[in-house]
Amino acid sequence: MSHPGVPDPGGSGVSVTLVPALPTLPSAPSAPLDVLGVPGEINLDYAASAPCARAAADAVAELLPWYASVHRGAGALSRRCTLAYEQARQTVGDFFGVRADDHVIFTRNTTDALNLLARAVPAGTTVVTFASEHHANLLPWPRGSVRLPVPSDPDGAVRDLAAALAELRRGSSPALPVLVAVTGASNVTGERWPVAELARVAHRHGARIVLDAAQLAPHAPVDLRTLDVDYLAVSGHKLYAPFGAGVLIGRADWLDAAPPYLAGGGATSHVGPATHDVTWATGPARHEGGTPNLLGAVALAAVCAALDDADQTALAAHEQALLARLRTGLAALPHVVELRTFGPNAPRVGIVSFVVAGWDSTEVATRLAAEHHIGVRDGLFCAHPLARRLLSEAAGRTGRRDLPPTALRASIGLGSTAAQVDRLLAALAELG
Ligand SMILES: Cc1ncc(COP(=O)(O)O)c(C=O)c1O
Repeated sequence: MSHPGVPDPGGSGVSVTLVPALPTLPSAPSAPLDVLGVPGEINLDYAASAPCARAAADAVAELLPWYASVHRGAGALSRRCTLAYEQARQTVGDFFGVRADDHVIFTRNTTDALNLLARAVPAGTTVVTFASEHHANLLPWPRGSVRLPVPSDPDGAVRDLAAALAELRRGSSPALPVLVAVTGASNVTGERWPVAELARVAHRHGARIVLDAAQLAPHAPVDLRTLDVDYLAVSGHKLYAPFGAGVLIGRADWLDAAPPYLAGGGATSHVGPATHDVTWATGPARHEGGTPNLLGAVALAAVCAALDDADQTALAAHEQALLARLRTGLAALPHVVELRTFGPNAPRVGIVSFVVAGWDSTEVATRLAAEHHIGVRDGLFCAHPLARRLLSEAAGRTGRRDLPPTALRASIGLGSTAAQVDRLLAALAELG
C-alpha cells in the first residue's frame, strides 16, 4: 500500500499500515533543521532537551511503518531496520570524524556513554576531571580519580591539567593508564573549553582524553580528528533528536577488552551450556546488549546528516547574535547577575545562567511559565559544585547579599528568535 505522506522506501510490495500523521502545527516547519514546537510557547531550555528537528521527525515517521526487530530477523521489515540502524551508525560516526580504530556505540544518552566508558577503562586507570563538570562527567569515574579545581580562565585549565598530569606521572609508572574527562561547553555558563589544547597536553603525558560533547555538539562542529580526542559522548535529545539515543565514539582497544556494559542477547558470539561458557562479541555489539533503540539512532543520524548539509557557520553566527542580544539585555537589568567561570568575553555557546536579586529562582521560573509562556530551567543544573561556586562568586563580584541560592538558565539554538529573547528580557525587567 502506498501513501502520499509516507513513501514506500523499499518498493517491496510489503503491506504497510500507516501510523497517524504527525500533528500539524499552524506554521509547520518544512526545512530539515526547522524545529517542532507549540505556537505561543517560548522554549528557552534547549540545554536540557532541544526541540525535535523536522529531519528527525521525518526520518522516524518514514521508518515507523517498517518498524521491526534489529539484527534479529530475516523478514523484509527486519532487514530494512537492521540496515537503517547500521547506516545510522555510519552517518553518526562520519559526522563526528570517526577513525579506523574507533567504535561507534549507541547508548541512551551522554550519561550512559560516560558510564560505559567508566566501566571499560583498564583496571588502575586514573581519571582526571575538573570540578566544573556536569555530574555525568564527575560521578561515573572510579575511586582514586583526580578532580582539579575550577580554573579561572581557559589557559589556567590547560596549565592546571599539565601540572596535574606531570605530578601523576612523577609518582606512577608511565604504563599506568590515565584518562582526562572534560566538557566541550559548560551546561551552566555555555563557556567553551579549550579542548584541542587539553588533548595536546593529555597526549604529551601519555594520557587519553574523553570529550563530553553534550552541550558543544548542538552548537558547533565537533570532530574527533580535528580536536584529537580519544572518545566523545553525545546525547541525541540535546541535538534535536529526542528519541532517546546517545553515542560513545572512540578507541576500540579498551572497549573490546572490557566486560560487556550490558550482558545479554546481542552482546555474545557464543553461549554454551556451562554457566560461564560465553564468548562476548567484539565491536559495538559487545556493549549494546538487548534490542537497540532503532528510532533513536535513526533520528540522531538524520539530524547529523541535516547539519552536515547545512551552513553551520551561518547557524552559529545567528546563534551568537541572539546570545549577544540576550547577554547585553541581561547586563542592562540592574537586578540580574550573570554567572560565569571565565571572563565576560570568553567564547561560549547559547547558554546563559543568571540570578534575579531578591527573587527565588524557582519562583521566577514558575512566573515566566505561568505569566509569559516562557520555559527556562532553574536549580543547580546537575553541576552542583560549579553552580554553587559561581553563585558565591557572583555575590562576591557584585557585593549583593540578596542573591538566591539557586540560579536560572536560558538556552537557545535552532529556531530561536530575537522576539523570544526580547520577551524574556521584558518579563525579567518587570521583576526589577
Ligand atoms: C555537559 C553535559 N554533560 C552531560 C549531560 C548528561 O546528558 P544526558 O542527561 O542526556 O545523559 C548533560 C545534560 O544536561 C550536560 O549538560
